[in-house]
Amino acid sequence: MLCLGIETSCDETACALLEDGKLTGEALASQIEVHGFFGGVVPELASREHYRLLGLLYDHLFVQTGVRSQDLDLIAVARGPGLLGSLLVGVSFAKGLALALDKPVIGVNHLHAHALAPGLHANLNFPALALVVSGGHTHIYRVESPARFMLLGRSIDDAAGEVFDKVGNYIGLAYPAGKEIDRLAQTGVGTIPKLPRPYLDNENLDFSFSGLKTAACSLFDTLPDLSGKNGSTLQDFCREFNAAIADTLVEKLSRALKLNPDVRELWLSGGVAANTLIRKSISGFAAKAGIDLKLPEFGLCTDNAAMIAHAGWLKYKEGIEDGLDFAAIPRGRKMPDDLACQIDRS
Ligand code: KG4
Ligand code: ZN
Repeated sequence: MLCLGIETSCDETACALLEDGKLTGEALASQIEVHGFFGGVVPELASREHYRLLGLLYDHLFVQTGVRSQDLDLIAVARGPGLLGSLLVGVSFAKGLALALDKPVIGVNHLHAHALAPGLHANLNFPALALVVSGGHTHIYRVESPARFMLLGRSIDDAAGEVFDKVGNYIGLAYPAGKEIDRLAQTGVGTIPKLPRPYLDNENLDFSFSGLKTAACSLFDTLPDLSGKNGSTLQDFCREFNAAIADTLVEKLSRALKLNPDVRELWLSGGVAANTLIRKSISGFAAKAGIDLKLPEFGLCTDNAAMIAHAGWLKYKEGIEDGLDFAAIPRGRKMPDDLACQIDRS
């Protein structure tokens, strides 16, 4: 079965082809240079770029793979959460294609696609716990099948990746700063005051990272010199900041596992899943807990269309298909396929 995936939810425009679950081609254009000047994604510019690039990438993908559009069996597109104007470009393109080619179309939850991304190169076992950590979201799911996602917890303010980018911006790093903080943190050592591990003094599985952002910026202001002359370096600061996020993710994941002892594996995905310290901390936690951890390859952590095609293909195999009337859903609105979960805390 040949499935086309389309991704336009934020600042990556991408198309990919998947043949029976195997990636056979992809075309991706990143908008980092467009938004870098502003220190973050400018929604209006993002949708204009998607509109400019999507058709070109689509043509390129079909020329590069030698596939004809008539050979497609399914069209999968990210329907949300994301930037509304950006999502509408991909969703309208997918619906137009489905209508013109008379092919089925499916609107994919972008976060479910991140969660299922380890399945592009490994077998997935259900039920699983999935931690999706990206620039826009920090979600913990219990996943019972490719079509049954129970939302256990999420960030009530900034996402982890957003905090990497905003603190990075404050300390003078280029957008998006997560990768650079990761690189600097690797050579840091402990000589710096500890930052809080935020929002742990509660019973829920939600996250709150905005206080950590303020604490990190305040700490940075109080450090007179990060040249190393007085002991501390920028690397030390980045290490402590990165560790505060890693420890918080591990703690909430550990609580989620205690409440869901029947899950067969853990999945970690989203752009921030590329982070060295977070991968190491969560791998260490999984090994200690005696549970398998599955991570996407590095290139499949950040936004891409292969994961959209993959999630669409899995959901279609479960009998799910959309009409041409499904809506794009912006960040902040409830996704209809995120099922609520009653956690028994007794
Ligand atoms: O999943 P993604 O591509 O886009 C969203 O759906 O949001 O994630 C992008 C985020 C950015 O915040 C970026 O700084 C972060 O992922 N990121 C990282 C690393 N690589 C990308 N954060 C920490 N360490 C990294 N190595
Ligand atoms: Zn994403």
